Amino acid sequence: MEPYCLDVVTLVPQVFDSLRSLGVIGRAFSSRIAELNVYNPRDFTKDTYRKVDDEPYGGGVGMVLKPEPIFAAFDSISIKSRTRTLLMTPQGKPLDQGDLLRWSKEHDQLILLCGQYEGFDERIRTLADEEVSIGDFVLTGGELPAMVIINGVVRLLQGTLGAQESILDESHSEFLLEHPQYTRPAFFRGMEVPEILRSGDHGAIAQWRAEQSKNRTKTRRLDLYSRWLEKESSSQEKKDK
Ligand SMILES: C[S@@+](CC[C@H](N)C(=O)[O-])C[C@H]1O[C@@H](n2cnc3c(N)ncnc32)[C@H](O)[C@@H]1O
Repeated sequence: MEPYCLDVVTLVPQVFDSLRSLGVIGRAFSSRIAELNVYNPRDFTKDTYRKVDDEPYGGGVGMVLKPEPIFAAFDSISIKSRTRTLLMTPQGKPLDQGDLLRWSKEHDQLILLCGQYEGFDERIRTLADEEVSIGDFVLTGGELPAMVIINGVVRLLQGTLGAQESILDESHSEFLLEHPQYTRPAFFRGMEVPEILRSGDHGAIAQWRAEQSKNRTKTRRLDLYSRWLEKESSSQEKKDK
């Protein structure tokens, strides 16, 4: 199978080296489940100063990324059939697990545009299919958001993780947060692993985990819990028809 392509346009390409070499995600790259290419807009400038930013029209603080080097870097990327271009911006749609799943399943290439300084010349936005934010805060560049997305998508690709079922169980996969997890020892500093998990009764364990998962979501994330309830009632309606 062709590797899933991740093409990043960034002024700090060296940041992405760690992704290639570390842990589960690094192994996905070395075993060609995914491929990572990095493009520096500075390499696409034509002036002697290799200028990628300029003052904003109309005045104001900071510098803005110029369109020409970003468009030229983008044009140099070889485009696959099911590609998606994402622009990293705090003004974008807040990232969630559904986005990662969708990009991992419906696409074979993600192009990630990372901003710096005060952000992009507005015309650069026309390159993007989606604008993505990793939260309601502002970072200095789009590299960490792009790395978050790459990590989240690559771990969902077939073959990256050993047991695919661990993906189905975990937090956010079905709007619910994951149930509590324990490992040995059974007793530690006065804290005991719930007896039911040590009972060997798989039916009772599954029921306990489902309850814990619901309660945990309800107390920590009422927004997610309401979405789960909606999903449950609509699938019940479909069954009743
Ligand atoms: C200092 S920020 C620019 C923010 C811009 N002036 C604004 O108010 O929208 C520089 C770059 O960091 C990235 N960035 C910062 N915070 C982000 C976030 N929460 N999610 C995604 N990208 C972010 C974007 O690529 C952005 O262009």
